[in-house]
Amino acid sequence: MCSVFGYIGKQYSRQLVMEGLSRLEYRGYDSAGFACLDPQSNHIVYSKASGDLQHLKDKLNQQSIDGYVSLGHTRWATHGGFSADNAHPHFDCEKNIALIHNGIIENHQELREELRAAGHVFHSETDTEVVAHLFEQELGRRDLSIELCSEIFSRLQGAYAFAIILEQYTNTMIVARKRSPLCVGVGKDELFVSSDPLAFIDKTRDVLFMPDESFALLSPSGIALYSFNGQSLSIATSSLDFSFEQQDKQQHEHFMLKEIYEQKAAIKNTLTHLQALSADLLWKQLGLKNEQVKDVEKITLLGCGTSWFAGRIAQFFFEEIAHISTQVSVASEFRYMSFFPRSNTLCIAITQSGETADTLEALRVVQSYGVHTIGLTNVASSTIVRETQGSLFTQAGCEVAVASTKAFVTQLTALYWLAHRLAMEKGLIELSDMQAAEQNLLIAAEALEECIEQNKLRIMQELAPYYATYKQYIFLGRHIGYPLAMEAALKLKEITYIFAQAYPAGELKHGPLALIDAQIPVVVFSHQAHIIYHKLVANVQEVKARDGHVIAFAFEGQQELISLADTVFIIPHVAPLLEPIAMIGLMQFFVYQMALVLDRPIDKPRNLAKSVTVE
Ligand code: AGP
Repeated sequence: MCSVFGYIGKQYSRQLVMEGLSRLEYRGYDSAGFACLDPQSNHIVYSKASGDLQHLKDKLNQQSIDGYVSLGHTRWATHGGFSADNAHPHFDCEKNIALIHNGIIENHQELREELRAAGHVFHSETDTEVVAHLFEQELGRRDLSIELCSEIFSRLQGAYAFAIILEQYTNTMIVARKRSPLCVGVGKDELFVSSDPLAFIDKTRDVLFMPDESFALLSPSGIALYSFNGQSLSIATSSLDFSFEQQDKQQHEHFMLKEIYEQKAAIKNTLTHLQALSADLLWKQLGLKNEQVKDVEKITLLGCGTSWFAGRIAQFFFEEIAHISTQVSVASEFRYMSFFPRSNTLCIAITQSGETADTLEALRVVQSYGVHTIGLTNVASSTIVRETQGSLFTQAGCEVAVASTKAFVTQLTALYWLAHRLAMEKGLIELSDMQAAEQNLLIAAEALEECIEQNKLRIMQELAPYYATYKQYIFLGRHIGYPLAMEAALKLKEITYIFAQAYPAGELKHGPLALIDAQIPVVVFSHQAHIIYHKLVANVQEVKARDGHVIAFAFEGQQELISLADTVFIIPHVAPLLEPIAMIGLMQFFVYQMALVLDRPIDKPRNLAKSVTVE
């Protein structure tokens, strides 16, 4: 997604802007740009380049532009293809105003027509550019003022974070936020503006997270903050206590591989962190009162992509362990659906990054019903933590690869653990059951790693080169194995670009069976419960009877399935409901090796970003 970075102060800032942008690389991008006010001429000077940040850096190395007031941006295309013209900053007709934006201006078409009719000439296909012309239009008639900003921002529909510089006001930067994240780092006689404090955390720890629907006029000596209706707001800064850690792949070829191998430790760290929470501390951190905990009637889980699948699996945890009716919604669809909360409903939004726009929007809808919300995230400084009444943290460590691996298993760990804590609070299980559950998580983590170790060579030498030649795949599972199949299919699509579709195994005969032939391998995730296993075996028989090719993830001793499959991976037994943790590492490794054979850019697959901050 787009990243916004700005600086206003007493230093030449090009280098620190570039450094800030590199730290925001995880957001993915296709072009980048830099602009500043030239201290001698007071004119805006800029540079833009298509492609990754290095292209912009190389271009800037040929130029001498730098200044005390500057903007940097990386773009993830929404409106208009990736080109230097569409890269930010964007300008008004005279290039007296430069601005950068993250988000989408939904009414840009209407504004563009209005501005065109007034004589403005556009130079890009972006939705962003209209805002530069809107400022130009208004500043042609009157001076910069609170009213002027308030009027302009109130006209913009959609989601946005803006930083704007103007030749006419060399000591001012305008910033604004609606829905998209934006924060201001407060230094001594200098301010840093960013989509994420990570970009400036080594320069200052004092951060103003811009309130939703607010704008600010920044100068080196301070911040004047206003709501969109022009009311002055007080400045409440937070002091952050994390540091930027340069991530490196260690001995691994890709971050994804490193992160696959970190899963066992990530599960253990998450568990240790959770175990350290006394009951009082836990419920307090979740923003709940003890009486509320006992009476939770319904849980709503929200998430996107892999986090949604973690929720789909966790539904079984909350229903089977804590006996709480649980609904799981994909966050990007939630706002179009009816929602019927019961009097004591809990909503848990699952998001590794804590910044996913779809998840945050769904959460805001839930909050409008007065429902208690909790964010389950891996990033303690993220937006979700500020917007929910309670938080629970996974301890996966920084996940760099776009394809989520260790974040997923730590989400499962935290949700499985929480389901047991709720069950204990409700008197459904004893402390000894809770301790056994914790032990079982560690055993599943062990199984995850063991499965990779045992199959590693076979996958690398034989299976990955062979299976990378297929063009499409079907994934099957039942019960908890179905969301696991969905997650596995997503991983295959993301990093190999091979088409894959997951089905509940019982649905095969209701249509997809028509697809079966020797050209479309069927990956089956087995289950330990006998009744489910036998039904799965029947589904595999149906596939084999039609010349299908089966890859099975079977548990030890499941002889019938083992002999039916063309390729089989044997998984050690783990506690019920922890099957996905035991199996997913091996699946990720298998898919990773296929992507390697296909020479894909594994850590940054085309078109994708790590953090998806637009709807
Ligand atoms: C997973 O491999 C994905 N890259 C993606 O589906 C991701 O899980 C999704 O965008 C949600 O992200 P979040 O957990 O940061 O909210």
